[in-house]
Amino acid sequence: EIHPLLLCGGSGTRLWPLSRKSYPKQFARLTGEESLFQASARRLSGPGFAAPMAITGSDFRFIVTEQLAAVEIAPAAILIEPEGRNTAPAILAAALALEARAPGALMLVAPADHVIPDAARFRDVVQAAAPAAHAGRIVTFGIRPDRAETGYGWLELTDAPDADFSPVPQDLKGFVEKPDDATARAMLEGGQHLWNAGIFLMSSATLIAAFETHAPEMLAGTRAAVDGAERDLGFTRLAPDPWAALDDISIDYAVMEKSDNLTVVPYGGAWSDLGGWDAVWRDSGPDTAGVVTAGPSTALDCENTLLRAESEAQELVGIGLSDVIAVAMPDAVLVAHKDRAQDVKQAVAALKAKG
Ligand code: GDD
Ligand code: MG
Repeated sequence: EIHPLLLCGGSGTRLWPLSRKSYPKQFARLTGEESLFQASARRLSGPGFAAPMAITGSDFRFIVTEQLAAVEIAPAAILIEPEGRNTAPAILAAALALEARAPGALMLVAPADHVIPDAARFRDVVQAAAPAAHAGRIVTFGIRPDRAETGYGWLELTDAPDADFSPVPQDLKGFVEKPDDATARAMLEGGQHLWNAGIFLMSSATLIAAFETHAPEMLAGTRAAVDGAERDLGFTRLAPDPWAALDDISIDYAVMEKSDNLTVVPYGGAWSDLGGWDAVWRDSGPDTAGVVTAGPSTALDCENTLLRAESEAQELVGIGLSDVIAVAMPDAVLVAHKDRAQDVKQAVAALKAKG
């Protein structure tokens, strides 16, 4: 059985004003009827999958329990981080907790903010990766790149995948996290790279060993936080003191870029990290003019534009717009050029500084 780890502690600032500090994007309904978090949990339930673990911040713990209950999934554990320290310590803490409960078990690291419409195909590809993970490999999942994206990790292959993108594992030559623009362009043109989906399958023991090699201090501190954890109404609260001393670093930089036991399994189905409003626009099925409207909004003679009104009490109208993103919430409105969608993060930082 594969034990899913639902990673759901990120703040999703690039989707402001829908995604808020108190209610980040993974818990919001973005393109479907359920939240991305609920869809992620359901995608990884069924035969071959154990009850999931989730790891998140204290503020979100009841959102997690409520949203899981609403889709009738009983979690095996909900780990609470005293504060956000990025994905490396979060994933390691879950691996240590799993290793204590089910030694040698396989863990699937599953970000809770991805859109993967073909759940059955995805589950099959994950199961196809299990033998390599049992053999001590860290398995990544590779997506066919269609742009020189600098916000992702890139996986260097030995052999290009076949035309059907069959899930055949191969050893990875290299892992490049968030390249600069020129490097991303070169990798796209070279055709020997895939995007890293940010989903990883390995045994908890393999991951712990990787931290022992590449980040031993983090292993010691995280182990102290797990050993000192308190049980509180079904939540496992990691110990705050050792946790506070941990580096804030992602798993990609802490371990993946340095590892030499990586395997990639190509995933040929649709996949998207709804990392910004441009991605939401792309994923919502723009009409022939490239227009997406959501909520009580109307576009007249617009092109390549997203108009999204979140309140039934407020109409949003766009006229003659090109390449615009407009998102209206009752208490905040975003209007941005579509090419600047990634800069929403900076705007949120500026708002925060203003207090
Ligand atoms: N529990 C917890 N705690 N979760 C976190 C934290 C944290 O401190 N920080 C981030 N997360 C969650 C996010 O909510 C998201 O689900 C996942 O971890 C990944 O974090 P992101 O911040 O979204 O990473 P990224 O998108 O920049 O990069 C990663 O994903 C890309 C694909 O989506 C990397 O793995 C890239 O290599 C990859 O291409
Ligand atoms: Mg992401």
